[in-house]
Amino acid sequence: MDLRLPAILLLAAAPALVGAGAGSAPAVGPESCKPCHPAAYEAWRTGPHARAFDSLPERSRKDKRCLSCHSPMADEGAVAVGCEACHGAGGAYSARYVMRDPELSRAVGLLDPNEKSCGACHNDSTPSLTKFDYSRKLPLIEHWNAEREGAKAEAPPASRPAAPAPGDTKKGAPAAKAR
Ligand code: HEC
Ligand code: HEC
Ligand code: HEC
Ligand code: HEC
Repeated sequence: MDLRLPAILLLAAAPALVGAGAGSAPAVGPESCKPCHPAAYEAWRTGPHARAFDSLPERSRKDKRCLSCHSPMADEGAVAVGCEACHGAGGAYSARYVMRDPELSRAVGLLDPNEKSCGACHNDSTPSLTKFDYSRKLPLIEHWNAEREGAKAEAPPASRPAAPAPGDTKKGAPAAKAR
């Protein structure tokens, strides 16, 4: 049952499957998502995936075996594990009019990441002491709550406008860290 020993061999056999379904749209890089998704960007930037390239030792930064997980879109100029490693290459979907249309954006490459997406990199060849536990790891990369709040606030008024809840604040995420 111990699959960890031959990790170095497995590494060679683990090309990233990520983005494989994203068609031929080019990647645009996290900086392009930032203006429209500032909260998600900030959470990502301070999280583990943004440093996935920098944490590689100098000598491994051109090693495709390592890049397949630590910087899968390096060939397209997107460094580290960026937004598009999980959400699909954004060349076609990241125009605003496309993004506003959930069906269209998915038709041109937007992916809905799930447990399987994580498994492309968090798997038996990962140098990790414990098995990847999705329900425990997912909260550690949280970047969608503020996005969803924002989307609700921006949405055109519904036919039956919701009355503000008693505890509602107008200031957005109360727990947000300073900057
Ligand atoms: C020009 C502005 C803009 C850019 C650039 C942009 N988005 Fe969006 N995105 C939106 C808008 C508007 C929505 C619609 C939901 C909303 O109002 O928040 C959206 C929705 C989304 C959703 C939720 C889709 C759904 O239907 O559930 C995801 C995921 C997303 N964007 C990811 C990205 C990623 C990743 C990038 C960069 C590759 C990106 N976006 C670039 C404006 C943008
Ligand atoms: C199958 C995907 C995969 C491949 C291939 C891979 N890694 Fe990783 N690597 C990971 C994951 C996932 C983590 C985080 C593991 C954890 O913390 O549980 C990680 C963690 C690391 C860390 C620790 C980072 C830190 O912040 O402490 C280093 C260093 C590292 N890998 C180097 C490499 C090198 C060098 C190679 C190429 C020989 C490589 N990795 C190949 C997925 C991979
Ligand atoms: C490691 C994979 C991963 C990376 C990297 C990543 N995301 Fe996500 N993202 C997810 C997952 C998973 C969810 C859905 C979480 C859930 O609700 O289960 C999500 C949700 C979202 C949502 C909300 C979608 C909705 O349905 O309302 C937006 C917007 C978003 N991400 C944007 C981004 C942006 C912008 C970046 C880069 C700055 C980024 N993500 C980086 C995995 C990722
Ligand atoms: C393209 C490869 C890739 C994908 C896909 C990916 N990760 Fe990672 N992840 C990494 C790498 C590489 C690291 C190590 C980053 C470092 O410290 O250098 C990492 C680190 C992490 C860490 C911090 C270390 C730990 O285990 O606590 C968490 C949490 C994490 N990933 C969660 C997720 C979740 C949840 C998903 C799926 C929604 C996901 N990742 C998808 C490559 C990936």
